[in-house]
Amino acid sequence: MNILGIETSCDETSAAIVNSDREICSNIVFSQLEEHAVFGGVVPEVAARAHMEKLDHMIRAALSDAELTFSDLDGIAATAGPGLIGGVMVGLMTGKAIAAAHNLPFIGVNHMEGHAITPRLTDNIEFPYLLLLVSGGHTQILVCEGVDQYQLWGTTRDDAAGECFDKSAKLMGLPYPGGPEIQKIAATCKDFDAATKRFNLPLPMKGREGCDFSFSGLKTAVRNQVENLPAGTLKREDVADLAFATQKAIADIIADRMQNAMNQYKSKYDNTELRLVVSGGVAANTTIRETLKSVCKKNQFQFYAPPTSLCGDNAAMIAWAGLERLQLGLTNDMSMPARPRWPLDQSASA
Ligand code: KG4
Ligand code: ZN
Repeated sequence: MNILGIETSCDETSAAIVNSDREICSNIVFSQLEEHAVFGGVVPEVAARAHMEKLDHMIRAALSDAELTFSDLDGIAATAGPGLIGGVMVGLMTGKAIAAAHNLPFIGVNHMEGHAITPRLTDNIEFPYLLLLVSGGHTQILVCEGVDQYQLWGTTRDDAAGECFDKSAKLMGLPYPGGPEIQKIAATCKDFDAATKRFNLPLPMKGREGCDFSFSGLKTAVRNQVENLPAGTLKREDVADLAFATQKAIADIIADRMQNAMNQYKSKYDNTELRLVVSGGVAANTTIRETLKSVCKKNQFQFYAPPTSLCGDNAAMIAWAGLERLQLGLTNDMSMPARPRWPLDQSASA
């Protein structure tokens, strides 16, 4: 079974084909970074136009990379939300049109479900598992019990982890997107202990019950620290120290919240294998990965993280989610709406 996936919910235009043997036959991702970098963030209108310009070429390229034609496909999956509505509409309408023209089943996929079930494509892991989803738009702890069966255990009360990376980086004068930039410059920090002592940053929610996050206090503290540095162009060493301290604070906050989630998970799923999956763009961060690995080790959880190329937004994850849904008969008709907000856990409000 071959499924074409389409992803256009943020600033990556992507088309991919995966098959039921868990092979990624093609996965073409075009990042609109350059278009948005001048604005220091994603501009919805610019994103929607860029998706429109690129998408049909990318679908053609995905087919040709996979050496397939439309007649080899068994279904079309497109992100139907959550995301920037203009972009979602471009991908959703394109997917519906192809499905209608070729008389194929259509699946409208929740972008977050794509992130959530990527490890079933890459590592063939079984339900249930604990999931930490950390991206530019979301920071959530979920339990994945099955396709379409997700429980939200924790979410951010303000900024997402990726947003905290991006906004902190901007304050430090680093380009967008800030996460990889912070990681890069933090690696040049000369004395880790001295850096964390020098920039003593708060860890919001640490020690509190539950699995919720908060990052806005950390971002404000970074702003205050930048303002306390000598005026004018920031020195590279100062930025390296502050970037290191910020990255460590974000990792420490995540570790604290994950410890609570693991305690909760162990008491609820005591007879199953313990598995943690981390996904989303921020999962590419090596400090965060290492921190999570050690929390897993301490709690006897197996650690899974998709390869970096499948952590960020991509259409392979949408195609795979579509494939799993199609196998369960969960298809959609042409009335499927584009949704700017669409919680994975329908009983939760986040
Ligand atoms: O999942 P994603 O590609 O897009 C969505 O937000 O859905 O995630 C993008 C986010 C950005 O905030 C970016 O700064 C962050 O992931 N990111 C990183 C790293 N690579 C990407 N954050 C920290 N360290 C990284 N290496
Ligand atoms: Zn995403």
